[in-house]
Amino acid sequence: MLPVLGIQVLSLLTVAVALRNISIDDSFGDESTHDVPTYTPPSKWTVSGRATPNASLAYKGTWHDTTSHPLDANHTASFSFTGVSLYVYCIIANTPPPGQQFFDTFADYIFFLDKEWVGNYEHDVEKTHDFFYNVPVYVNQTMENKLHSFSIVAHSNDQPVLLLFDYAIYTSEDNTGDATSSARKPKVTSRETPNVENGPESHVYLGTIVCTTLGGIAFLLCIGIFIAIQVRRRQRAKGISGQFPLSNCPDENAIVIAHINNGDTIQQLRQTIQDLRAEKRVLWAAMPPPRTL
Ligand SMILES: *[C@@H]1O[C@H](CO)[C@@H](O)[C@H](O)[C@H]1NC(C)=O
Ligand SMILES: *[C@@H]1O[C@H](CO)[C@@H](O)[C@H](O)[C@H]1NC(C)=O
Ligand SMILES: *[C@@H]1O[C@H](CO)[C@@H](O)[C@H](O)[C@H]1NC(C)=O
Ligand SMILES: *[C@@H]1O[C@H](CO)[C@@H](O)[C@H](O)[C@H]1NC(C)=O
Repeated sequence: MLPVLGIQVLSLLTVAVALRNISIDDSFGDESTHDVPTYTPPSKWTVSGRATPNASLAYKGTWHDTTSHPLDANHTASFSFTGVSLYVYCIIANTPPPGQQFFDTFADYIFFLDKEWVGNYEHDVEKTHDFFYNVPVYVNQTMENKLHSFSIVAHSNDQPVLLLFDYAIYTSEDNTGDATSSARKPKVTSRETPNVENGPESHVYLGTIVCTTLGGIAFLLCIGIFIAIQVRRRQRAKGISGQFPLSNCPDENAIVIAHINNGDTIQQLRQTIQDLRAEKRVLWAAMPPPRTL
């Protein structure tokens, strides 16, 4: 049981890398660091413009609005974060609703990650008055876990561009092991199964067999030794080998010589040898049969 438990504890420790999604709101900023994105040039960005999305459908009820014209300096929103994934969400406008002020609707955005160009997003006006909410304009799930800088630029060389920046989400890798995190790498689960079922359990099973076998052999040896001692005691009581302990004799010939030297009769020698053979038979019978595994 203990090795099995050990493996399970070990695999729990290896999944302790917790992933957590953290949002960066356009107005309230990073919910963890409270850093608020920077908007350049500041005078070209507003929190409400001609385009009027439904605030209750925007993240935290806010967005940042800018319209960039072809000859303008780039209109840029920037923020930093430490994470392995990034999702950037905008509100996308379509045909301005009738009776409302006209506004530009074309979307043409350029993305910079760590000052490198990493992509574009374009959207042409559609025949609807609806705004599109929570549109992921840029997604990157293959980032190194380090501090990154990100910029979204509204820019086109041939027509005005509308950018309604709503929020971003990044995935942070928390190595301190946040037990409440719901996100665990699924491959870890599949790795646990074969180890626990084929590894330690079969070792435990083998161990049980070996222990049982050794226990049986020890038990049989004990019985054999007990019988041998009893036989010796009886022989001593008859006075046959009392003056000459059998354990001192390496073999039967030695006994013969010893007894002749002692001047015993042939009759006594025969008796001694017979008893010795009987003792040998008992010992052989007490030994366990040879193992055939
Ligand atoms: C983070 O958010 C993205 C986009 O909503 C989602 O696909 C991903 O599963 C989330 N990750 C975690 C760890 O919650
Ligand atoms: C804004 O969205 C909410 C939630 O869907 C809805 O109840 C409300 O009627 C909408 N407001 C307008 C002006 O469309
Ligand atoms: C605006 O961004 C584009 C695309 O990165 C770049 O080529 C251009 O030089 C930028 N213009 C200014 C004025 O920074
Ligand atoms: C994601 O970010 C890395 C740099 O961390 C970059 O090399 C890669 O091109 C980016 N992928 C996408 C789809 O933008």
